[in-house]
Amino acid sequence: MKESPNSAVVEDQDPLATTATQAQISAEIATAHEAYRNGRLTGSPARDKVEIDFAPYRSSLLRHPTKDLHHADPETIELHSPAFGHRDVADVEADLTIQHSGEPLGERMVVTGRVLDGDGRPVRHQLVEVWQANASGRYIHKRDQHPAPLDPNFTGTGRCLTDENGVYRFQTIKPGPYPWRNHTNAWRPAHIHFSVFGSEFTQRIITQMYFPGDPLFPLDPIYQSILDADARDRLVASYDHDLTTPEYSLGYRWDIVLTGTKRTWTEPEGGDE
Ligand SMILES: [Fe+2]
Repeated sequence: MKESPNSAVVEDQDPLATTATQAQISAEIATAHEAYRNGRLTGSPARDKVEIDFAPYRSSLLRHPTKDLHHADPETIELHSPAFGHRDVADVEADLTIQHSGEPLGERMVVTGRVLDGDGRPVRHQLVEVWQANASGRYIHKRDQHPAPLDPNFTGTGRCLTDENGVYRFQTIKPGPYPWRNHTNAWRPAHIHFSVFGSEFTQRIITQMYFPGDPLFPLDPIYQSILDADARDRLVASYDHDLTTPEYSLGYRWDIVLTGTKRTWTEPEGGDE
């Protein structure tokens, strides 16, 4: 099941919820990372993509694809797929703080960055969508039963097109961390989900942006399912004081690299976390 901005599926509803403790999950993460590091020392290749069957991330074991993906003819699909142009996306859709009659609660912030190809060239006019929990760590989706308050002034979805320099920009509030049922007392680090369409509708990636210094990083089996430390680091935005608006909002910067060795980790097709 694919997450989409209109059906913000959350990670806490999995029927494979376990009673493992955080200590057990953390030990499994440590074992997997040590095996990876040892493998690198003896010449194993870097693994900077998500491990689709990462044991500490319990539900990934049964849900990951076991067969090769079906490859469709992209040109044929393009004949029937929607495409986005400037007239389809209004500027106000990039501001998640003005979608209701009042202002949402939370820490106002701007997040901006560039969508780049593997050679550092800007990827222009691409549709970037975001969805996120509110400041209390609650999604508006009805399946999210986390007992934190909904915010009547915050839906948590937005979209924009990248400009001539590949720049996207959103104004929003900082999402809160939230619990999920991977194991006992499991919490997701605060994150914003990003979807980027390429020049064709068949080219879509989904990923997550995190915030610097989150103490939940070492405990989170989703974040830690990326074995390569540099690839994990690339999912963390940097705080940029030059992006702040005095007496109004903080600023974070995060680039998305679509290809190449500095590629941003993306979720596997068919994944829903
Ligand atoms: Fe999420």
